[in-house]
Amino acid sequence: MAENTYRALVVRESEGGKFNGAIETMQIEGLPAGDVLVRVRYSSLNYKDMLSASGNRGVTRKYPHTPGIDGAGTVEESGSPDFKKGEEVIVTSYDLGMNTSGGLGQYIRVPASWVVKKPSSLSLRESMIYGTAGFTAGLSVLRLVDYGIGKGSSVLVTGATGGVGSVAVSILSHAGFKVTAVNGLNDESAFLESIGASEIIPIPDPAESAGKPMLKERWDAAVDTVGGNMLVFALRSVKGNGAVTCCGNAGSADISLTVYPFILRGIALFGIDSQNCPMERRTRTWNMLAGEWKFPWLEKLSAEVGLDGVIPQIDRIRAGTHRGRIIVNMQD
Ligand SMILES: NC(=O)c1ccc[n+]([C@@H]2O[C@H](COP(=O)([O-])OP(=O)(O)OC[C@H]3O[C@@H](n4cnc5c(N)ncnc54)[C@H](OP(=O)(O)O)[C@@H]3O)[C@@H](O)[C@H]2O)c1
Repeated sequence: MAENTYRALVVRESEGGKFNGAIETMQIEGLPAGDVLVRVRYSSLNYKDMLSASGNRGVTRKYPHTPGIDGAGTVEESGSPDFKKGEEVIVTSYDLGMNTSGGLGQYIRVPASWVVKKPSSLSLRESMIYGTAGFTAGLSVLRLVDYGIGKGSSVLVTGATGGVGSVAVSILSHAGFKVTAVNGLNDESAFLESIGASEIIPIPDPAESAGKPMLKERWDAAVDTVGGNMLVFALRSVKGNGAVTCCGNAGSADISLTVYPFILRGIALFGIDSQNCPMERRTRTWNMLAGEWKFPWLEKLSAEVGLDGVIPQIDRIRAGTHRGRIIVNMQD
């Protein structure tokens, strides 16, 4: 590789509105302006990367584009006093991989305000096993804990084999919560038990609860990653004064429910936004992920591919046939 060049996944729009990705050689000087140039050592794949790689204009407006909302690596150049050359850092979310060239390139250049100093008890590789999905799981659990959902409480996790869901199941079970996992698309019961789910239930049939504003009270709290009917089921089933977090719409963005879970059971609904999460909460969550919540089976949750193996994995996310986390080794 010539000096000043790097390899990256580049998605281009072809005639007829199709979007195709290929690994291309790029110029470092072509990266956007920013305070910190990072040599990305590991990246990871998230649902949003699949959307960006598929031409979803809600995520990425302009193509050609390099997706990748996650990158962990070493500072190569810094115009900020907060970061020095060689320092290990994590960059996730904000505009990375959306309309800013992302972590599926071996270099990124970003504002210093997006950069997190990597906790020493986490390797670059481990930080990307978590990635945005794991960080979002962490934000969800932190919300519940801050609300007063304590150890030993029962928590429902939806979309449990997915990136966010599998890390949420793992953190919660490791931290002493009793976890019920919803698993429906592909039967992954053995995997879910191995990461600490004590009960596994199928996707509830909406017809069974049609017209019922509330269902039997079953869990102290819920982490929902699916949205739609699943979020409605969680809100209707959580015990009085419990809490539900909502981060995703893998199932649907639309919800149809009454106000009764809120006004008759006092249920709290917390929205989770990893993209613009304030830096204080961001670093607090990364420190929890690197410390108290770091579960021993972190490695088991992930499969590793090189940059050349990224496109088939994105296809699997699109088809819903992947599980857990996929990390991308960005070495040459
Ligand atoms: N708010 C934020 O900051 C933030 C951050 C990260 C991700 N997200 C969002 O969170 C969601 C999950 O992300 P992810 O990375 O975990 O995605 P993922 O790896 O694709 O997992 C999604 C999981 O949802 C379940 N699922 C999908 N379609 C479903 C349906 N129609 N009905 C029921 N379950 C369904 C599947 O689990 P089972 O096979 O186990 O049922 C699937 O594995 C996405 O919508 C993503 O955009 C939001």
